[in-house]
Amino acid sequence: MATRVALIGAGGHGLSHRRTLQRLSDAGTVEVAGLCDRQPVDPHPDAPLPGVPFYRDHRELLAGERPEIVIVCTPPHTHLAIALDVLAVGADLLLEKPPVMSSFEHDRLAEAVAGSGRLCQVGFQALGSAALAELCAAAPAGPIGVSGAWWRPDSYYDRAPWAGRRAVDGRPVLDGALVNPFAHALMQALVLADEGGPGFRPVRMELERYRTRPIETDDTTFLRLTGNDGRRVTVGVTLASAVFIAGEIRVGDAVLEYPTDRLRLSGQAGFQRVPGRTGLLENLIEHRRDPRTPLLAPLARTGLFTAVAEAIVRAPAPSVIGDGWLAPHPDGGGRVVTGIDEIVREVAETDRLPSETRVPWAGEVHRTVVEPRPASGAVSTGVETARRTSR
Ligand SMILES: NC(=O)c1ccc[n+]([C@@H]2O[C@H](COP(=O)([O-])OP(=O)(O)OC[C@H]3O[C@@H](n4cnc5c(N)ncnc54)[C@H](O)[C@@H]3O)[C@@H](O)[C@H]2O)c1
Repeated sequence: MATRVALIGAGGHGLSHRRTLQRLSDAGTVEVAGLCDRQPVDPHPDAPLPGVPFYRDHRELLAGERPEIVIVCTPPHTHLAIALDVLAVGADLLLEKPPVMSSFEHDRLAEAVAGSGRLCQVGFQALGSAALAELCAAAPAGPIGVSGAWWRPDSYYDRAPWAGRRAVDGRPVLDGALVNPFAHALMQALVLADEGGPGFRPVRMELERYRTRPIETDDTTFLRLTGNDGRRVTVGVTLASAVFIAGEIRVGDAVLEYPTDRLRLSGQAGFQRVPGRTGLLENLIEHRRDPRTPLLAPLARTGLFTAVAEAIVRAPAPSVIGDGWLAPHPDGGGRVVTGIDEIVREVAETDRLPSETRVPWAGEVHRTVVEPRPASGAVSTGVETARRTSR
């Protein structure tokens, strides 16, 4: 029987969920119960979803349509309140990443999930990657290094009221190169660190945040986490590069190019693509049908991500990279940091932050502790699963 699924936040990135809903509706897996957005949303040729009711207020949708699963794809700072409303009507959640703004909110949501007996899957779709699973299974040893170099023009920060901001309407917002566009890289790196051994408990976090444009958050982020066993996760990512690095996660001498699922395991000469991504909605539907199928991205698996992301956005404001180190992007639309692609790679490969090398624009390191919530370790057997009741 088809599962009744609704989508709250149908514009913006919600289009990708509308496409999935159209595909699963065509396949008979899903009945689309309704769409909701504060703004009018035009049907897309790839996802016309004919005859589906549209609501401006999510509470009216929940009361009127009684969906079994609700996808929440609204701006991050609105997630918690909407997610609590969804659980209160007894529906399961597919909540976009970043799921919540703080560890406090994580606990609040985890309690509500457990209390309702419902499920919460978080929109870290890269956790459905077969390449990641293969890398985890190989259990590579050694430090973890993450690098990525993308280009986002200045207009990227005009696309939504929360883009590049620290707060909106008095609510903190999670935005910044690592906590949003590169969130999948951070999430995968933390899974590799945490689930490949006895568990990763960061005892120290060292951070350098920079910006190249007039935004409140960073567009270039460097991070080093040191675990209680001395293991390190070191990250360099930027949205201000003329040279593209898709995104690489190194563990010892194994490398995963995470957006393309290309993998090079220890001892292999070159990269091989490992095809296969399990969709998070499909996985949630399958888990509801047969709980032996593990949830790929349960809320419990994301506690460490939220703790690290919160520590990043609460850190002192990013330092400005001066005009002398910037150059116009060849396509226009803003400026890039000269040589930043080499710098992010070097940081990931050497464990050394820009201020510890000869990067001329480097500022100071911000040192702090992270207070992670206990991660599930296991993918599927959190409280969410154990206390789920049948409908
Ligand atoms: N998984 C991914 O790879 C991925 C990619 C992009 C964005 N995201 C996440 O998706 C979410 C949405 O991002 P976005 O860029 O589309 O944001 P956005 O600001 O464009 O908002 C999405 C939609 O939500 C609507 N909306 C806002 N408040 C609402 C409310 N209270 N009720 C109903 N609708 C509301 C807006 O009108 C808009 O159409 C964020 O959490 C973002 O981090 C995830």
